[in-house]
Amino acid sequence: MSLSTVSAPWLQARMIAQAGIAPGMRVLEVGSGGYNAGLLAHVVGATGQVVTVDIDPEITARATAGLDAAGYGARVRVVTADAEHGVPAHADYDAIMVTVGAWDLTPAWLEQLTGDGVIVVPLRMNTFTRSLAFRRSGEHWASTSAQLCGFVPMQGLGARGERRLHLRDPAGGVVTLLFDETEIDDPRALTGALEHDPVQAWSGRMIPAQGQFADLHLWLAGLLPGFCRVEAGPGTPLAAEGFCRTWFPFGGVFDDSFCVMEVRESGRPDGGHEFGARGYGPHAAEAAEELVAQLKAWDAHGRKIPGDAYAYWPAGTTIPTSEAPVCQFRKVHGTATITWPSPLNAPLPVHDLVERD
Ligand SMILES: C[S@@+](CC[C@H](N)C(=O)[O-])C[C@H]1O[C@@H](n2cnc3c(N)ncnc32)[C@H](O)[C@@H]1O
Repeated sequence: MSLSTVSAPWLQARMIAQAGIAPGMRVLEVGSGGYNAGLLAHVVGATGQVVTVDIDPEITARATAGLDAAGYGARVRVVTADAEHGVPAHADYDAIMVTVGAWDLTPAWLEQLTGDGVIVVPLRMNTFTRSLAFRRSGEHWASTSAQLCGFVPMQGLGARGERRLHLRDPAGGVVTLLFDETEIDDPRALTGALEHDPVQAWSGRMIPAQGQFADLHLWLAGLLPGFCRVEAGPGTPLAAEGFCRTWFPFGGVFDDSFCVMEVRESGRPDGGHEFGARGYGPHAAEAAEELVAQLKAWDAHGRKIPGDAYAYWPAGTTIPTSEAPVCQFRKVHGTATITWPSPLNAPLPVHDLVERD
């Protein structure tokens, strides 16, 4: 696994725009490299200040050398430390830009922001990551924009691994279920689930060729019980079918059974695919139908998450009840939420082709 990469320049530019970086601002960058710190120094100008922190001394040495060579050395403070504690020596910051995958928002970051400060952070929510721009809104933090992205994971105190459940396939090989935030009651209940014939179910919901559906992943990660990613090892029938090369190597667990997402060609002249599910175990049909029900619900709620639909509620704050569906991702220091549009006032994007029962 890669521990440090230079982020794509378009994403760095997008995150700088998400944070609204402007001349004169004091900015903390979490995760160094040099290039993005140079961009930040350029934008904040001579009246601003940039601090960049990285846990890896080799990275900070390289960042220092690169910044010196580019003429920004005197304008960026490079710190070697675990960013779990922020960098209190130079706080407060008008903006914190996290350039490494975070599973949670550490309290130090939020405390080291000015009253109207902004944090832009690639936040992992049950496997899927969005770069979110959060600003204070009363007791909680409300998003103003969201960007699909991928980052190397946080190391140090904020590192968070995933749990793996290996299921032996009687036809050969091992299918692995990977859990990020989901807790399942009794993993042993799934032993033998692959000994049953699979059951398929289809939703009647289509995605057109080139259609966008990335937010489906977050709907399922937040609302499908027992959500997990699925890896079909060599020799398994699922791998032979090319399951791991599909867009949907994930599913959900229901007591002694589980389901995985499937797609099939729509057969329509304009191409596209239909979403469906395949269940395994003694309750294979019920598991597949549960996933299909979530596919239909996602379709009914407009498919897309607005940029201001995300929030972060520090531990001790109360999440208000809502009539709209809310995905909750419980963290150590708080809870991340996504509030979906309600079905009545959610106009369907024109380019999404939707078939109803
Ligand atoms: C994607 S790279 C940062 C890229 C950089 N901003 C640039 O200009 O291209 C992510 C960095 O985060 C660092 N990192 C990981 N965990 C960290 C932690 N707990 N505290 C500080 N830095 C961390 C890694 O060492 C790695 O260098």
